Amino acid sequence: MSSSNDSIQKTIIVALSLCLVCSIFVAAAAVGLKPIQNSNKDLDRKRNILSAAGMLEPGKTVDEIFATVETRIVNLETGAFATDAELNEAGINPATYDQTAASKDPQLSQALSGENDPASIKRRVDYSSVYLVKSEGEIDRIILPVHGYGLWSTMYGFMALKNDFNTVIGFGFYAQGETPGLGGEVDNPNWKALWNGKEVYDDQGEAVIRLAKAGVDSSDPQAMHKVDGLSGATLTSRGVTNLVQYWLGKEGFAPFLTKLRSEGAQ
Ligand SMILES: Cc1cc2nc3c(=O)[nH]c(=O)nc-3n(C[C@H](O)[C@H](O)[C@H](O)COP(=O)(O)O)c2cc1C
Repeated sequence: MSSSNDSIQKTIIVALSLCLVCSIFVAAAAVGLKPIQNSNKDLDRKRNILSAAGMLEPGKTVDEIFATVETRIVNLETGAFATDAELNEAGINPATYDQTAASKDPQLSQALSGENDPASIKRRVDYSSVYLVKSEGEIDRIILPVHGYGLWSTMYGFMALKNDFNTVIGFGFYAQGETPGLGGEVDNPNWKALWNGKEVYDDQGEAVIRLAKAGVDSSDPQAMHKVDGLSGATLTSRGVTNLVQYWLGKEGFAPFLTKLRSEGAQ
C-alpha cells in the first residue's frame, strides 16, 4: 500500500514549492548582485581603455589612473565635441553614457545598411565617447572605442592614438566571441603588440590601416599601414580591417581627428 506522501498532489506541491524557493533565491541574487556586476563592468571598461593606451601601472588602482583620463562626447556628424546644450537635449551624461544602448535607440543612432555598413554594425551612434589623456593642458594621447563584426561575433575594442592622431599606441578588444586559437587570437598580446607604431592614414587622409593576409613585408612601402593577418582566420581578419577603417574613416572619427589636427590638440 502506498503511503500518503507518495500522492500525486504532494509530489506536485513539493516540486512547485522547491521551484518557488529556488526562483526567489535566484531573483534575489540577480537583483542583489546587479550593482556589483555594474561596477565590475565599469572597472573592466576603464581597465581596457587604460590597457589600450599602455597606462596600466603596477601598484596603482585602475580608478587612480583613470582619474587622469578625460571622458568627452563627440558629435560624429560634425566632428566637434558635443556642447552642453546638445548633451542636455540628447539626455547624455558623459560619465554614464552607454554607447551600446544608444546604438539601439533610433533617437540616438542612424540605421546603416549595404555598403554604408562595412563593419556590419547595423546602427551607428550620433554621439561617441572618446578618452583624452592630457599633458600640460594639451592632448597627449586619445583613446577611441571601435566595434564591428568578425566571423561569429561583434568585437568591441579600443584604439589609442598618439597626438598626431595617426600613429597607433595600442589596440585591443575587450569583448569578442571568435573561435579561441583562430579568430580569438585578436586577444593575443603578441598580435596586439604588432599594432604599435602603425599609421592609420595615408598622405591623402584615407584610413588605410589593414591586416595583410600573407603577413607584412618590412620592405613594403605600405608596411606602416599593415598588420599581420590572423592565420586560419581570414574572415575575422577581414572584420578587423573593416571595423578599423570604418571607425577611423569619414563616417567614424575622421572628421573629429581632422578637426583636432587643424585646431590644435587642447
Ligand atoms: C570550428 C571552426 C571555427 C572557425 N573559427 C573561425 C574564426 O573564429 N575566425 C575565422 O576567420 N575563421 C574561422 N574558421 C575558419 C573559416 O571557416 C575559414 O575557413 C577561414 O576564415 C579561412 O581562413 P584562411 O584562408 O586563413 O584559412 C573556423 C573554422 C572552423 C571549422
